[in-house]
Amino acid sequence: MQSNQEFALIIHNVHKHFRNVQALRGASFLVEKGTIHALLGPNGAGKTTLLRIIAGIIKPDYGQVIAFNMPPGSPELIGLMGYMTQNTVGYQNITAWKNVTLFAEIAGIDKQMINEKTEYLFSELEIMNLKSRKFKELSGGEKRTVNLIRTIIIGDKLLLLDEPTAGLDLERAAKVRKLIQKLSKEGRTILLSSHIVTDLENLSQYITILHSGKTIFTGTKEQAIDTFTTDEKRSLENALLNAFDNNPSQNNLNSAEETQEGQLHSEKTGKSI
Ligand SMILES: Nc1ncnc2c1ncn2[C@@H]1O[C@H](COP(=O)(O)OP(=O)(O)O)[C@@H](O)[C@H]1O
Ligand SMILES: [Mg+2]
Repeated sequence: MQSNQEFALIIHNVHKHFRNVQALRGASFLVEKGTIHALLGPNGAGKTTLLRIIAGIIKPDYGQVIAFNMPPGSPELIGLMGYMTQNTVGYQNITAWKNVTLFAEIAGIDKQMINEKTEYLFSELEIMNLKSRKFKELSGGEKRTVNLIRTIIIGDKLLLLDEPTAGLDLERAAKVRKLIQKLSKEGRTILLSSHIVTDLENLSQYITILHSGKTIFTGTKEQAIDTFTTDEKRSLENALLNAFDNNPSQNNLNSAEETQEGQLHSEKTGKSI
């Protein structure tokens, strides 16, 4: 398998089951450094499970994940990789500000740097007014914004964002997209899951579609449109609707397939591991 310098993440044939549920049964794709890559798929496709595996929270049954040439959970990844969970997590009785700085201190980041970055991000996402409010007093969208800020500070090189704009009002969602774009331009790698087409159209350069725990497509948005739509209905939304409708075990539309050698090969991108 390649451990190429140009990839922040190598995901190869990952399988994971929970009791009688096979959550992942062949997730494979590459995430290039400095790109925004969206992980898509219907509810239950395995997106959150895969992000938890990459973050080192749970282990796969089979297959490999390599982040910056290291296995998930490596101590060297602390401070490099930030993971924003789908569900909001925070200490309810401490302030929004402290909910960011405390986690960053635990990750070993320099205190002055934490304060500067927290100040900048609270101001950029316009939640300075929430600085001293207890976490439990914040709305769902406000809590998610605090979680995002914490993730950005902890993930100096790679951000794993599980539905980062879900539950945000339109204005804040637009600000979050702008910030993610800025971080990417500065060199950060971002892997996000989302159902929101605006996120995908305006943000991500690459997409990977999971269906029933398996990669059925990995490539650019344009390649997804070519693969999953007919000439009359060319749009990313239609491509995703068609892709989500497919049953990966019953058709051959898959553009990412296991070859006999157990290698992942994407016909569309020509990338292989
Ligand atoms: N901790 C768990 N215990 C049992 N089943 C789980 C657990 N986590 C996820 N699953 C199941 O695995 C499948 C994939 O879930 P998930 O990764 O959350 O999908 P997605 O994020 O794409 O909606 C679902 O069928 C879900 O019910
Ligand atoms: Mg999920």
